[in-house]
Amino acid sequence: MRMQVRTHSNVTHIDFLPLAELQERLPSKAVIVTDDVVSKLVESDHRRVTVPSGEPSKSMSTYVDVVQQILSLGIDRNTIIVALGGGVVGDLAGFVAATILRGVTFLQVPTTLLAMVDSSIGGKVGVDTPQGKNLVGAFKPADQVLICPEFLDQLPARQLTNGMAEVWKYGFIGNAPELEKLRGGQSPLTEIIFDCLDHKARVVEEDEFETSGLRATLNYGHTVGHAIEKVLGYEMFLHGEAISIGMVVEARLGELIGLTEPGTAAQVAEDLASAGLPISWDGLRDTEPLIAAMRSDKKATGGNLAFSLLTRLGDCKLVRDVDQESVRAALTA
Ligand code: GLY
Repeated sequence: MRMQVRTHSNVTHIDFLPLAELQERLPSKAVIVTDDVVSKLVESDHRRVTVPSGEPSKSMSTYVDVVQQILSLGIDRNTIIVALGGGVVGDLAGFVAATILRGVTFLQVPTTLLAMVDSSIGGKVGVDTPQGKNLVGAFKPADQVLICPEFLDQLPARQLTNGMAEVWKYGFIGNAPELEKLRGGQSPLTEIIFDCLDHKARVVEEDEFETSGLRATLNYGHTVGHAIEKVLGYEMFLHGEAISIGMVVEARLGELIGLTEPGTAAQVAEDLASAGLPISWDGLRDTEPLIAAMRSDKKATGGNLAFSLLTRLGDCKLVRDVDQESVRAALTA
């Protein structure tokens, strides 16, 4: 299976391939950036920089460390940076590829479901800062994405479920028929990954730099989800788990402000719970740190909160200047 994503910056070629063919597809000029868990899964003679697994590696200090290690290898502008790993490695390595020598070719090999369906395409790369998630970065679409679904056979069950949060998100925001497929539970994972990428590709081609509000719909559940991750110091919940809770809260928020069809939040919660994802967290009652974190979300303007909210299942839009009282009520309902 193949797909292309055409943006202002480049064309991303996406290929699905067996794991056995991966080695021969990695160019000899590649420097692989990976983490200490994934590194053990792929043997190759390529130069390699390894970071600790987990969100804390998506930091300014790890970025500087990786850049220094790669520069010390004696690279040139024909060097290709390969991200081998999940979303953390992809975002970190992509930011390195965007900036080292003012930008070199970038290849993504996503090894988690979350990275396969979301973060490996669209070019959002970067690192977290103490002020919030993804606040420093660039748009650097990969030139090539190589998807080996066999990686998922080795993925811990929690990580697979984590990725399913982003899969359900696509269904909630604009692909209602996908919801029926997901509820049926019969579709092969490869077909689900392809459908999600197809959805994201169309969105990114139309609104690469998130200016029209269309791409912001991919952020459904993320204003609250990122805030949860931030107040917890990126521990306790994985990204997909935090946005799962975020999707329920934001559906409730939409209902409270009269935008979202009544009953939507209950359906979102039922679907996510059936997928084994968390739909609530006691810490939501402590609203002020969460709201403070939401103010540093990139969709917020002038300190006013913004959310990508459902109008109904299968339709989503960016809503600015949402009043804080409603946000408090949605968090604590
Ligand atoms: N993950 C959301 C986006 O790429 O815009």
